[in-house]
Amino acid sequence: MRLVLLGPPGAGKGTQARVLETRLRAPQIASGDLLRAAVRNKTALGLEAKTYMDKGALVPDELVLKLIGERLGQSDAKSGFLLDGFPRSVQQAETLADMLEARKERLDKVIALILPDEEVVKRISGRRTCRNCGAMYHVIYDPPLNMGICNTCQGELYQRDDDAEDTVKMRLEVYADSTRPLLDYYETQGILAKIDGIGRPEEIEKRILTALGVKGAAEVPEA
Ligand code: AP5
Repeated sequence: MRLVLLGPPGAGKGTQARVLETRLRAPQIASGDLLRAAVRNKTALGLEAKTYMDKGALVPDELVLKLIGERLGQSDAKSGFLLDGFPRSVQQAETLADMLEARKERLDKVIALILPDEEVVKRISGRRTCRNCGAMYHVIYDPPLNMGICNTCQGELYQRDDDAEDTVKMRLEVYADSTRPLLDYYETQGILAKIDGIGRPEEIEKRILTALGVKGAAEVPEA
């Protein structure tokens, strides 16, 4: 299955993509994770991207498209993928459509998580990520067993640089201006599914699987 997960910052795209990749046997391809890896590795692309990410602005298309193009070209993405955080503008969506057309492919569905800004801010301000394995927690909704330490690998949990209050405000503005128009863009193509993003992650997963028509979605156990 070839899917795009859309939604404002902190909507739960990454949380859902990580669960869905096992269920749908398609790799999560997260533009934010690819960019953060480039920043960590101090590549020229990463160092340039960081200046935009720190402000909460979109990284220029040529940098993002390079990373996405390379990742989509890897063998595990040949028969399906879950794009998380890309595309983020109509222009990026058009480039993606061209890339897929060249492979004689097209998107099956676009899942848009819908939730209000107040919830987004709560989710982002409480997010903690493991520096070592990338596991994600929330200080209230999904706290680690020991504060600041990853349950899985005992790595250090940190707060993303771009999760500071002012940067989040900017990211929300960028979402409204550049990314939200994609809802109309994909609705016109008849492949958009709007999903209520409020509720426990297991409930949201069930809604997504139902929208995708995945058999047995109603039987997904809720923890
Ligand atoms: P990116 O990393 O893509 O960030 P984002 O889109 O702002 O999304 P987030 O990763 O913040 O949130 P999420 O929706 O994945 O939520 P999560 O599952 O973590 O992009 C970062 C930056 O990179 C951008 O600002 C830009 O500069 C650049 N960039 C990236 N892609 C680009 C592109 N295509 N073009 C140009 N620039 C680009 O959940 C958040 C928290 O909520 C977690 O703590 C989680 O545990 C908790 N949570 C999740 N679900 C629930 C739930 N149902 N109930 C309660 N808590 C929940």
